Amino acid sequence: MRVVRTIADLRALLRPLREAGKRIGFVPTMGFLHEGHGALIRQSAARCDATVVSIFVNPTQFGPSEDLASYPKDLERDQNLCLEAGTTVLFLPEAAEIYPTGFQTHVEPGRLAEPLCGRFRPGHFRGVATVVAKLFNMVEPDLAFFGQKDFQQTVVIRRMARDLNLPVDVVVVPTVREADGLALSSRNTYLDEDARRRALRLSEGLLSAKAAFEAGERDGAKLVEIARKPLSGVDSIQYLELVDTQNLEPIQGRVDRSAALCVAAYVGSTRLIDNVLLSPPASDLAASAS
Ligand code: PAF
Repeated sequence: MRVVRTIADLRALLRPLREAGKRIGFVPTMGFLHEGHGALIRQSAARCDATVVSIFVNPTQFGPSEDLASYPKDLERDQNLCLEAGTTVLFLPEAAEIYPTGFQTHVEPGRLAEPLCGRFRPGHFRGVATVVAKLFNMVEPDLAFFGQKDFQQTVVIRRMARDLNLPVDVVVVPTVREADGLALSSRNTYLDEDARRRALRLSEGLLSAKAAFEAGERDGAKLVEIARKPLSGVDSIQYLELVDTQNLEPIQGRVDRSAALCVAAYVGSTRLIDNVLLSPPASDLAASAS
């Protein structure tokens, strides 16, 4: 595994690979890696000839009262995880090179950035879309891998890649969970024992709703109610919403198309998000179309 810190070194390393027709996979991260990132890197390593992982805590996607300054870091552990998961190049850019003095051009996502997290984190997806577009231009990957846990992020990035004709396939990898259901997140490190126990309520509700959906429940309001019940144990719910996976618009009534049930909640001072996908089988879709 090669470690590079500048865009010039990254490009110099990748050019011969690209010229030799090698397929380049990319996993952008903000570090403090866990097995969720491990799964993205492993998938990239399995599908591509070379895998680039970036670690950059992107300031433009944090709000003024968010955890930018205290975002957890452990570069040595990250390097080991990257190496073990099959990374070819670890890219560790400096903020001064990503956002040089005078920087003023951003990628402005549209309506997909407005609901769900967008309502509570103004500017967040603009920051994400901007840095991901820049990283795509630096790495020029064939495939880029993102975790489903950040569901809205995957939808915004897919749309951006399409809208801006970025020649990259965006691959979404299922959420990795602890044995008890908690979705892996770098922010889980903030949870003490009591908060960790209460954080489980998010996945408990979502997974119960998914089980009910798989057993045939199609009433959207009932599915949301199932997911809401255990949430009495968290400190505040920002949103719990059932949305269309394509346009993120709320689904009212029957779930007759691919849907995501998404939650964001505070446990103590830690904000957690999670989601499950509810996809009606093809036979259901055919029946509702006829
Ligand atoms: O998901 C993340 O860790 C970040 O939003 C990303 C995609 C690395 C952009 O900073």
